[in-house]
Amino acid sequence: MFQLVRKLLFLLPPERAHYFTMDFLNLLVRIPLVTHLIFPKQKSEASFSFCGLHFRNRVGLAAGFDKNAKYLHVLSKMGFGHIEVGTVTPLAQDGNPKPRLFRLPKDQALINRMGFNNEGVDSMVTRLKNRPKGLVIGGNIGKNKVTPNENAHLDYLVCFEKLFPYVDYFTVNVSSPNTPGLRELQDKEPLTQLLQSIVKKREELLKEEGNKPILLKIAPDMTKEQLKEVAEVLQQVNLDGIILNNTSIDRSSLKTEMERVDSIGNGGLSGAPLTQKSQEVLEAMKKFLPKDFPIIGVGGIMNEKQGKQRIEAGAQLIQIYTGFVYRGMGLVKKLGKL
Ligand code: FNR
Repeated sequence: MFQLVRKLLFLLPPERAHYFTMDFLNLLVRIPLVTHLIFPKQKSEASFSFCGLHFRNRVGLAAGFDKNAKYLHVLSKMGFGHIEVGTVTPLAQDGNPKPRLFRLPKDQALINRMGFNNEGVDSMVTRLKNRPKGLVIGGNIGKNKVTPNENAHLDYLVCFEKLFPYVDYFTVNVSSPNTPGLRELQDKEPLTQLLQSIVKKREELLKEEGNKPILLKIAPDMTKEQLKEVAEVLQQVNLDGIILNNTSIDRSSLKTEMERVDSIGNGGLSGAPLTQKSQEVLEAMKKFLPKDFPIIGVGGIMNEKQGKQRIEAGAQLIQIYTGFVYRGMGLVKKLGKL
């Protein structure tokens, strides 16, 4: 059934297909009988602990799918144990001109250069006031395109403070390839300063709310030396965990014709071509971090075996995006059993 629906949806341009499907499901989920028929029953007891939070399973939806926290109720019913909303920026912004999302079916991959299109943090806060129960929600935060890197920390702090009462954990995203200069924030000095300022802000806010773990999300295109540096920074600033990893700018090893790939242009690659790369980043990073350092593995998890490998390599939780687009709810169900 999903194969047929996917075939039809793949006739639409990718971004239109995304919003069409999610808006439609958002309507359907309001009809209780339909909800019972379409969505499997969830186990209600929490089974996994990560950074002091309880998750009903190990699989989450990666950032970028629900940028504005619009689809949390329906996504929760699809079986995810956690959902990372965002990347959100202080002010609403349009993102890059369309088309900016492309399918590479031969590679089971996507290329996107969305550019943090989102409705801004205030709008997200309003929606999160009505968040579903039993689901862990992470807030993935970033900076507006117009904000220079010298002031980037101020953007992150605005999002952090406004979202603080409404999400369970935070992800500091410094790894999108689609905001000019953003990845430079992964360098040792700016990264240390950025993370220190957020950790400091948390100390102030903690007086009013419970602890909110802070995770860093990095790119898969880093050298071992850079990974080692990031690991040192994480420990120096006492960060809670890391998400490995975002999309890649690497285009080697694609099966899609090069003319097609070139015609698409810049953007982050996700899906099957990332499977091995993300696994290797995880294995490399493990060596630089203390034994049980909290890690979420993401990137090219397209089946159960790959999810299992990520967990065996040391990721306590996993996330999917492109696998969900190509394999649907069935994949969530399978990964939810790991
Ligand atoms: C993303 N991803 C992403 N990540 C992030 O931290 N903030 C974001 O806003 C986005 N936006 C986004 C849009 C689109 C269209 C895609 C395909 C991806 C990256 C995503 O969360 C994930 O890290 C990668 O896609 C790798 O996982 P998959 O897709 O291979 O499972």
